[in-house]
Order: sequence, then structure tokens, then C-alpha cells
Amino acid sequence: MTDIAILVGTESGNAQMVADALQEVLEEMNHDVALHEEPDAGELALAERDVMLVSCSTHGDGELPDNIIPFCDYLKENKPDLSHIRYGIVALGDQTYHQTFCQAGKDVDAILADCGAVRIGERFEVDACTQPLPDEDAREWVKSWVEQL
Ligand SMILES: Cc1cc2nc3c(=O)[nH]c(=O)nc-3n(C[C@H](O)[C@H](O)[C@H](O)COP(=O)(O)O)c2cc1C
Repeated sequence: MTDIAILVGTESGNAQMVADALQEVLEEMNHDVALHEEPDAGELALAERDVMLVSCSTHGDGELPDNIIPFCDYLKENKPDLSHIRYGIVALGDQTYHQTFCQAGKDVDAILADCGAVRIGERFEVDACTQPLPDEDAREWVKSWVEQL
């Protein structure tokens, strides 16, 4: 059993829906999951944390959802050593935004890596245009992701 924190970055709820599905699947697999809808570095107790999973959409012109900005700003400003943390990223976007497709998920990925955290598996990118059921796709993805921990 692994203790997993799921961090949500959402504007209109899709990434939340995906996070809920990830939690459900992981709990069915007997992992201990906590959902962080307003990710906060203090609450996450980063020094003791082992595994994080981020479900984050992109808004504006490649921008982060408002609710995850303070957490990302904290990491960029303080650069805590997160080399003990393994993480995964589910990035939600829309291919019609060619230049900024899933940019926020890519940015969170880069910010975590910059702090030394180690990504497990490939980033899972969800295109709202071609994947109308993002939670269904994410359910399948997370089963193989968690096996790689
Ligand atoms: C105003 C607006 C701007 C968006 N900008 C981007 C973008 O720059 N890049 C991208 O890949 N998707 C973009 N999207 C698509 C969203 O990321 C996508 O619809 C996602 O599923 C929304 O998830 P959420 O409900 O969790 O916020 C945008 C959507 C809206 C409504």
C-alpha cells in the first residue's frame, strides 16, 4: 500500500473529475489516497511525502488554473529539495490550442523536476477534443502508472 497525494489544478471541474476517478481506482487497489483540491505546501508536508499525482488543466493562453498557482509559486520561489518524491502528471488540455496544448501540466512537471522530484512514467495528456471521457482514460492510465512506483 502506498500513501499518495493527488493535487488538483482546475478551473471548470474536469481535472477534479479526473482526480476523483484516480482516487477511486487507487483506493480500489488498496492505496491510501488524499485529495488536495487547494494544494498547499504546508498541508502536503513535502519533507515527509513520498508520492504525488497531479491532475491539472490549462487555461487562458497556456496558464495554470488559479487554485494551483500559489503552490507552484511556492516551489519556484523556495526550491525545496523534493528528490525523495516520485510523481505523476495528468495534464488536461485541448489540441485546438496548438501552441499551448497542456502547457500548465507541462509547467507543473518542469517545476517539480526543478526541485529534484522524479517523474514516474510519461505525462498523461488528455485532449478535450478527442477524449470526451477523460476520467475513463485516466482510470486505465493510472493502473499502469501505479505499477511503476
Ligand atoms: C478559456 C479557456 C482557455 C483554455 N486554454 C487552453 C490552453 O491554452 N491550452 C490547452 O491545452 N487547453 C486549453 N483549454 C482547454 C482546457 O484545458 C480543457 O477544456 C480542460 O478539460 C479544462 O479542464 P478544467 O475543467 O479542469 O479546468 C482552455 C479552455 C478554456 C475554457
